Amino acid sequence: MENILAPSILAADFKELGQAIKTIEENGAEYLHYDVMDGIFVPSISFGMPVLSSIRSCTNQVMDVHLMITEPIRYIKEFKEAGADLITIHLEACEDVAATIKAIREAGLKVGLSIKPATEAEAIRPYLDQIDMILVMSVEPGFGGQKFIPESLDKIRALRAMVEEAGVDVDIEVDGGIYQANVKEVLDAGANIIVSGSGVFKGDIAKNTREFMEILNS
Ligand code: DX5
Ligand code: ZN
Repeated sequence: MENILAPSILAADFKELGQAIKTIEENGAEYLHYDVMDGIFVPSISFGMPVLSSIRSCTNQVMDVHLMITEPIRYIKEFKEAGADLITIHLEACEDVAATIKAIREAGLKVGLSIKPATEAEAIRPYLDQIDMILVMSVEPGFGGQKFIPESLDKIRALRAMVEEAGVDVDIEVDGGIYQANVKEVLDAGANIIVSGSGVFKGDIAKNTREFMEILNS
């Protein structure tokens, strides 16, 4: 399976956003990870539809929209229209997870299902045949720049085993505290899509992206 880098623009310098996106795309990042926060499901507030539609036109990357919002079913249509290709929702944020997954599918988009650090891997099992991707949060969602929670590795292993046992075609994405120094253990545990904010956007963006890609392709 091919490994994919999904830089999280939450860590970007927003006055240089267009150039930063060009740089990550040119250096091999296939996805763009877009973190939406509502101040309710998570304490912070980030950005929503207008910023997404504006950057949609400057890249061909897959728009990987991570909705850290309560009852995301309310906004599927809006994010599709703004340019999402893949929408990830939080299991903990939905009254009816299956209906939310179905709404994303019916909008013609790929579906990701995410769990917070305290939610067990087993919670994903009932939805395995309905989703394209699992997103394992390796920090408490809400802020960039936090430290990777080591117990996430066991959760990734358990989910990779679950996916293989079920024989489904489901990606495993991991998000939070991933840098060039620890990405290999995340891949070895069974992840194939890597989110990184600070590890890509702090410092030399081109060099950071290339370093990640080298490890992802090795
Ligand atoms: C956290 C977000 C992450 C975050 C990752 O709630 O979902 O995508 O931007 O940032 P880093 O890589 O800095 O931990
Ligand atoms: Zn995220």
